[in-house]
Amino acid sequence: MIKAIIYNSNTGFTKQYAYHFALNTGLPIYNIKEAKKKLNKDDEVIYFSWINANKITKLKKLKNYNIAYIGVVGMSFYSEELIESLKKDNNINNIYYLQGGIRWRYLNTFQRIIMKIVLSGYEKKHKKGLLNPEEEMIYERINLGYENVDLNSLNHLIEWYKDLNNFVS
Ligand SMILES: Cc1cc2nc3c(=O)[nH]c(=O)nc-3n(C[C@H](O)[C@H](O)[C@H](O)COP(=O)(O)O)c2cc1C
Repeated sequence: MIKAIIYNSNTGFTKQYAYHFALNTGLPIYNIKEAKKKLNKDDEVIYFSWINANKITKLKKLKNYNIAYIGVVGMSFYSEELIESLKKDNNINNIYYLQGGIRWRYLNTFQRIIMKIVLSGYEKKHKKGLLNPEEEMIYERINLGYENVDLNSLNHLIEWYKDLNNFVS
């Protein structure tokens, strides 16, 4: 039985999804530090976290828990290839992808540097007209920052949880 939600969020998008999931399921919600105090080894949990360089952040810190599903938040567009590469790079299967955004003002110095490097890669191609329409959109989104949380995109995961528990609302 799933005991709780654990989340890890850097600029707030993942936290928004995790709290929406908590509101709709009644599950207790903790950040990683709180979870250590409140949960026991092998407890079943749902983890929400963001992607950094295709890695689900702080996944290793959850090795003592049994993860039923991971809500993974990133700036990429959804595609089957994306899900497959996330599964492969993170060695985990139960991934539920969600769109976040970019909040430049909340990034730390290191993260800003990384994002600026990514941006300059896109910029060079943009100037040469080498970006496809999807890449153009990502370039604009990174450049200006954007917020793309869609709480309705959690509906299938919420339904999955409710079915699992014969949840009556
Ligand atoms: C340094 C850095 C690396 C990132 N790498 C990826 C990535 O590989 N794939 C992706 O889809 N999003 C990537 N993102 C975008 C974040 O996953 C996105 O901003 C997410 O919404 C952050 O969630 P948060 O607000 O909960 O921190 C990256 C962001 C930063 C700052």
